[in-house]
Amino acid sequence: MPGLLKMPWREVLPLWTLVVLLQLVLVPSQLAGCLLNPCLEVIPNKTFRCMGLNISGVPAEVPNTTQNLDLSFSNLKSLGSNYFSSVPELQLLDLTRCHIHTIEDNSFKDLHKLSTLILTANSLQYLGTAAFYGLTYLKKLVLVETNIASLTDLPIGHLHTLQELNLGHNNIASLKLPKYFTNLTSLRHLSFHSNKITYISKGDLDALREANRLNLTLVLSLNDIKYIEPGSFAKVHLGELVLRSCFENFNVMHTSLQGLTGLQVNRLIVGEFSDSQRLVAFQRGLLSGLCQVQMQEFVLICFRKIEENTDTLFNCIGNVSSIRLVDVQLEEVSEVPMFSQVKQLECKKCKFKEVPAMKLSLFKELRVVRITKTKHLNTFRQKFESLRNLEVVDLSENHLSFTRCCFLQFHKCPNLKYLNLSFNSDISMVGDLTNLKNLLYLDLQHTKLVGPGSYPVFLSLQKLVYLDISHTRTHVKSECTFCGLNSLQVLKMAGNSFEHNKLADNFQNLSRLHTLDISSCKLVQVDRSTFDALSELKNLNISNNKLLSFDPVVYKPLRALTALDFSNNQVSVLLDSALEILPDSLVLLDISQNLFECSCVHLNFLKWIKEKQELLQNKDLMICHTPAYMKNMSLLSFDLSSCHLNASTVAFSVIMLLAAVVFLFLIYKYYFQLYYSLVLLSGCKHSAERGDTYDAFVIHSSKDQDWVMKELVEPLEGGTPPFQLCLYYRDFLPGVPIVTNIIEEGFLSSRNVIAVISTDFLESKWCSFEFDIAQSWQLIEGKAGIIMIVLEEVNKTLLRQRLGLSRYLRRNTYLEWKNKEINRHIFWRQLTGVLLEGKKWNHEEVKLM
Ligand SMILES: *[C@@H]1O[C@H](CO)[C@@H](O)[C@H](O)[C@H]1NC(C)=O
Ligand SMILES: *[C@@H]1O[C@H](CO)[C@@H](O)[C@H](O)[C@H]1NC(C)=O
Ligand SMILES: *[C@@H]1O[C@H](CO)[C@@H](O)[C@H](O)[C@H]1NC(C)=O
Ligand SMILES: *[C@@H]1O[C@H](CO)[C@@H](O)[C@H](O)[C@H]1NC(C)=O
Ligand SMILES: *[C@@H]1O[C@H](CO)[C@@H](O)[C@H](O)[C@H]1NC(C)=O
Ligand SMILES: *[C@@H]1O[C@H](CO)[C@@H](O)[C@H](O)[C@H]1NC(C)=O
Ligand SMILES: *[C@@H]1O[C@H](CO)[C@@H](O)[C@H](O)[C@H]1NC(C)=O
Ligand SMILES: *[C@@H]1O[C@H](CO)[C@@H](O)[C@H](O)[C@H]1NC(C)=O
Ligand SMILES: *[C@@H]1O[C@H](CO)[C@@H](O)[C@H](O)[C@H]1NC(C)=O
Ligand SMILES: *[C@@H]1O[C@H](CO)[C@@H](O)[C@H](O)[C@H]1NC(C)=O
Repeated sequence: MPGLLKMPWREVLPLWTLVVLLQLVLVPSQLAGCLLNPCLEVIPNKTFRCMGLNISGVPAEVPNTTQNLDLSFSNLKSLGSNYFSSVPELQLLDLTRCHIHTIEDNSFKDLHKLSTLILTANSLQYLGTAAFYGLTYLKKLVLVETNIASLTDLPIGHLHTLQELNLGHNNIASLKLPKYFTNLTSLRHLSFHSNKITYISKGDLDALREANRLNLTLVLSLNDIKYIEPGSFAKVHLGELVLRSCFENFNVMHTSLQGLTGLQVNRLIVGEFSDSQRLVAFQRGLLSGLCQVQMQEFVLICFRKIEENTDTLFNCIGNVSSIRLVDVQLEEVSEVPMFSQVKQLECKKCKFKEVPAMKLSLFKELRVVRITKTKHLNTFRQKFESLRNLEVVDLSENHLSFTRCCFLQFHKCPNLKYLNLSFNSDISMVGDLTNLKNLLYLDLQHTKLVGPGSYPVFLSLQKLVYLDISHTRTHVKSECTFCGLNSLQVLKMAGNSFEHNKLADNFQNLSRLHTLDISSCKLVQVDRSTFDALSELKNLNISNNKLLSFDPVVYKPLRALTALDFSNNQVSVLLDSALEILPDSLVLLDISQNLFECSCVHLNFLKWIKEKQELLQNKDLMICHTPAYMKNMSLLSFDLSSCHLNASTVAFSVIMLLAAVVFLFLIYKYYFQLYYSLVLLSGCKHSAERGDTYDAFVIHSSKDQDWVMKELVEPLEGGTPPFQLCLYYRDFLPGVPIVTNIIEEGFLSSRNVIAVISTDFLESKWCSFEFDIAQSWQLIEGKAGIIMIVLEEVNKTLLRQRLGLSRYLRRNTYLEWKNKEINRHIFWRQLTGVLLEGKKWNHEEVKLM
């Protein structure tokens, strides 16, 4: 944006702010955070990783408490004095590939606690003589790929505390160690891996000689060494010397090794790298120079070109106490020198087809034999014989397949204590193991076995402490499978099977057992007395089976248990009785991946789970299986309070339901009473508007309508004086609710109420309702009198019940209608008398009369 640059500052600033704001809005917030803070806080306040910065100086967001700082791939270019003063607590500083070309004096001055400084892959051009001053605690300095050509000017002579100096991948041409190396008395590891060293001369290692150190590892691998002058290593004591891929051919290697004369070393490693094979082939006398080297251990590694016979292989190393041949294409064991002192022999990834027991038996002092990871090794017919010191035989991870293990294979090896035949093909154990009666450790895992399970093959291994027959396709039929193993402490049985998928009295005599692994054994059931003898058992792994329950009786004898793995079974709950028998000694319990039922029925168990979180392993895998709506929920997330809540909600709902039922029942029963109260209420509201349009409001059953018209309406309305009656079918306003009509047209506008009481009246709910209203109305308003006209045929008991006290009230009139002239006369006199009381006379009516 060239235009932007020309703008006055005042205008640029808001625009720039806008751009930033826009960025914040548009870029997802995470990314924005990333852009704004390129330093990653790996451990709060302690470890920061700020990679790929283009800055000078330590980033401001790195606090002064930082102990580990990774600034790799940043663009620092040049370090000046006190460059790291803001982070004085640093213990590790990684400056890999930071484009540093200059390190000035005192750059690291303040880093008194720095123990590791990594300067890998910086093409250093200038290094001040005081560049590393102040690093008074430095233990490890990595100067790999830093363009160093000479040791002479390397300003590290004052680093007394230095233990490891890595100068790999540089251009160093001479191994001449400058005088200052005598100051580096703590140095334990010095690597010149992949440099340009071609000649090693007498005097080059004088600094090491003077210091008389015993345990320095010197790595010279991947240098193209042409010659080592004899005497260069004389009287030098090293912990380890590594010479891998150093020589281009037989002659160079042969003569160079001669140059090691006089060296004393704990371990000498010679050979190649698997990915950088130089073409050195093993030929007669290749290692003859090593006769003059004193060493404890010799390692020949990645030596794949073995052309001529190797019978001289052990010539000069026959008295070394430990020989390791790793990835060496040796098909047969070379000639074994007389009176060899070799105690330990290891062949890993060699090319044997048969266990070379006969040849190896010539190493009379042999204590440890290991032949492992040998692809073609499948037969074991020869005997290890008369090796009185032989204690350890490890033949694991081959393809061995043989029978009658292991009577034939070991003869007069009375001290054999450890035998590892694991990860082989198949072995038949139907034989006698009496010659192995001192065996302590036997590992047969992942090798298909014939014998165990059907026969008591271990009967003579009375001292055996450790037996691993996991994943050996053993099917335990015989209850005496483990008979004789009276000292056994560890039994690993995982991945096998038991008769009827049931544990019976298989472990009767294993009273010393402290570790038992019967995981993945397809177990469905455990007999109650199975563990009775195992009172010392500490670790039980019975995971990955199909057990449906955790029966307290079964596990009760295990009083010493500290770790129990019951994961991946099919248990839905541990009952209270099971929780009770778990011993106090238990510190690890894994019940994850079972089919837990997360319901309030098991509230105790779920509560217990929450309380025992320290004890429980793999808590995130403890998930509910049932009920369906809880599936996949963590057991720990089960809301215990929901159970209490549930109980109360249930109670509450029940009560509510009952109340509703009762309510509905009451409504049903007292429907009219309620309705009538409603009417009363609405009546109250209108009491003010009361008028006297009618002399009487007639309530009657519709079945008595004829009687009402003929005997009541006609004589009363047509007589003198005429009375005005209110009849619901005639005077009620259409379109107005009936109740409103009753109240407003009937009661409110009438001075009296005439109730024509017949059997129909008494039976009609509607009439009763009207009558009830009339009664209450009378009570409330105290005005309208009720004139009860009782027709002849009415049942008197019913009448008394219905009319109750009303008929005795003073204001009310009780008339009985009888169809006789004399009675009618009295009736009329009484009725008109009552109706005349309080009648307001209409003047026009009076005039007319
Ligand atoms: C990191 O340091 C800051 C400031 O010194 C302090 O407030 C914070 O608690 C520290 N954080 C931790 C995890 O120690
Ligand atoms: C680093 O910053 C400098 C200026 O401080 C600049 O010239 C250079 O181009 C930047 N390099 C990268 C890779 O961003
Ligand atoms: C770190 O900085 C804080 C102030 O930011 C200061 O109080 C403290 O003393 C410093 N600590 C060290 C070890 O320098
Ligand atoms: C060796 O250490 C001594 C004592 O600390 C010191 O005086 C001398 O300068 C150091 N030598 C080198 C070459 O740094
Ligand atoms: C020598 O150093 C190696 C590791 O470099 C270590 O394993 C060994 O124990 C040390 N030996 C002695 C005698 O200090
Ligand atoms: C190995 O030791 C034996 C006896 O100690 C000795 O006779 C033999 O010469 C030694 N061999 C080598 C190669 O040093
Ligand atoms: C037996 O060898 C295997 C494979 O090398 C190893 O994993 C196992 O630990 C060894 N057994 C014992 C008891 O050391
Ligand atoms: C069980 O052990 C006892 C004593 O340790 C021994 O006498 C008995 O023979 C053993 N029984 C079996 C079947 O191994
Ligand atoms: C129990 O055995 C299973 C599989 O066999 C294994 O994954 C688990 O780690 C073992 N448990 C313990 C506590 O070692
Ligand atoms: C439970 O989790 C498993 C595996 O994570 C998944 O396959 C299954 O569908 C989940 N079931 C439910 C009900 O969420």
